[in-house]
Amino acid sequence: MHSDIERILIPRNALARRVAELADELARDLDALDPDAEIVLIPVLTGSIIFVADLIRHLPHKLRIEVVTASSYPGRATTSQGAALAGPLPEDLTGRHVLLIDDILDSGSTLTLLREELHRRGPQWLRTCVLLRKQTERARSVPCEYVGFEIADEFVVGYGLDYDNYYRNLPEIAVLRKDAM
Ligand code: IMP
Ligand code: MG
Repeated sequence: MHSDIERILIPRNALARRVAELADELARDLDALDPDAEIVLIPVLTGSIIFVADLIRHLPHKLRIEVVTASSYPGRATTSQGAALAGPLPEDLTGRHVLLIDDILDSGSTLTLLREELHRRGPQWLRTCVLLRKQTERARSVPCEYVGFEIADEFVVGYGLDYDNYYRNLPEIAVLRKDAM
């Protein structure tokens, strides 16, 4: 697997440090809002699993997790094919504190669609958190309150992100060799 990697973009210690910082930021905001607020985290499968697993272990709050499934890069696609929901959304969000979490913000079609759908369910507080955001006009135009890293507009894998469902288990964020795609 490692022979498919061209270079490491974000090493594991930098990921760990930044995820802890993001959790602190989030914890501060939640405490300022209401220290007893119960939070619903909504991770987008499958790419956000590692990020969410690391993030929640820094959050001392009472929280619940409701996963959603969406896909805009099916299979071997390396450009967005348009977002689609592939399952139900949580229903009981009225008056709740909701944090939508994804691995990466690229075209933004996934998060735009999900945020609209969640907003319609009447949460009291709704924010979005991503580990990575591509440095494009399009990505920056999508509302997102918590961003781990800004990265160049290139296709990355690892730490949950895939190519054709592989490489999610890489502990770093990496760029694949062209001949591996
Ligand atoms: P968007 O809807 O175009 O913003 O794409 C978001 C989804 O596409 C993410 O949840 C990822 O699963 C996938 N995606 C976007 N860029 C990349 C990438 O560079 N590597 C792997 N997956 C990506
Ligand atoms: Mg994804």
